[in-house]
Amino acid sequence: MKLTVVGGGSTYTPELVDGFARLRDTLPVGELVLADPAADRLEPVGALARRIFAKQGHGGRIVTTGDLEAAVDGADAVLLQLRVGGQAARERDETWPVECGCVGQETTGAGGLAKALRTVPVVLDIAERIRRANPDAWIIDFTNPVGIVTRALLQAGHRAVGLCNVAIGLQRKFAALLGVAPAEVHLDHVGLNHLTWETGVRLGGPEGENVLPRLLADHGDAVAADLRLPRPLLDRLGVVPSYYLRYYYAHDEVVAESRTKPSRAAEVAAMERELLAMYADPALDEKPALLARRGGAYYSEAAVDLAAALLGGQGSPYQVVNTWNRGTLPFLPDDAVIEVPAAVGRKGATPLPVPAVDPLYAGLMANVTAYEDLALRAALHGGRDRVFRALLAHPLVGQYEYADRLTDLLIAHNREHLPWA
Ligand code: G6P
Ligand code: MN
Repeated sequence: MKLTVVGGGSTYTPELVDGFARLRDTLPVGELVLADPAADRLEPVGALARRIFAKQGHGGRIVTTGDLEAAVDGADAVLLQLRVGGQAARERDETWPVECGCVGQETTGAGGLAKALRTVPVVLDIAERIRRANPDAWIIDFTNPVGIVTRALLQAGHRAVGLCNVAIGLQRKFAALLGVAPAEVHLDHVGLNHLTWETGVRLGGPEGENVLPRLLADHGDAVAADLRLPRPLLDRLGVVPSYYLRYYYAHDEVVAESRTKPSRAAEVAAMERELLAMYADPALDEKPALLARRGGAYYSEAAVDLAAALLGGQGSPYQVVNTWNRGTLPFLPDDAVIEVPAAVGRKGATPLPVPAVDPLYAGLMANVTAYEDLALRAALHGGRDRVFRALLAHPLVGQYEYADRLTDLLIAHNREHLPWA
């Protein structure tokens, strides 16, 4: 089996490689190609990847290349984990929205729109080359903003599934709190990427007993602390929002905080420098502990599980993925991309039925879906007015004066990535 990682020079790659090594019975990777235009990162990352495989006795071959065509040729699955403009562009996304009193975040709000505009055309170009090389290859998209990027891929007819680690992170967390194996925990996870709620936590599978009330009663403080939301709010909701909901439920608090501390991009850039120096040490042959301070925990487990299921291996039958709505959430258009548990196999992902969604959450999902639709139009066709319309539709922006100012700032900070600007 040949697997290709586009953005293979990412400092996250050792996490992924460690997963491929540990979980080789689930996903037997014969050839792993790490493709990246940044040779200075690819070289140390690739060398560490080979040492991880060697240490864990994995016989697979690891190839590093800057040649995308060769990288995807004959690949059974291609994982996309790229970041157009790198951490420098992310730093800007996290900074200029705050000038207008709005959240500055890499995937949520105006910063997320900037990322979508930079990313969608690049990803579609890569996907086209993958399709030309191998029309049967599966594309697993971890590139943010995953909801909008996956929608772009599906709309263009690609064999794609979007992936995020928020659900698997909560599954692992809840399993530990409940004292059961992670595979025992099934989440009633509903929403859009980075806009999700756990409305049930079931033991044994989709039909199992819902232990969410017990989990909140016994461990509500721990869950609330992780989300940085007040415990009484969780008790009133009776569901567990993802930590991305803090940007909505505690918007002003987040904006005030962001004025007093360095951006996450700056923190990550410092960590990346340290990580790359570690990776260059020939004595290092495992993923360093520092990597755990990045947000990508369990990303490798989720990716292995998804690739295994799509390629007919032994992945879990139900996995939380991003795919077409197609009636699953009746209050959203069929062509929206939603993030829900799905049955996954060789033919792709089919969402499981979802019980009626409380208007408290459905309203926000519908609002952000409309934004994502407009954001994708702006990413595909460009133009100041399309950017303005997406921002005006976003629940974290909404007012025309903000939308106008943010549109100007977005364009000014991203001109080099926007051919129409
Ligand atoms: C989580 C999210 C990812 C996001 C990451 C950021 O894993 O699901 O979509 O890219 O956090 O982590 P970072 O360490 O880059 O802030
Ligand atoms: Mn994510």
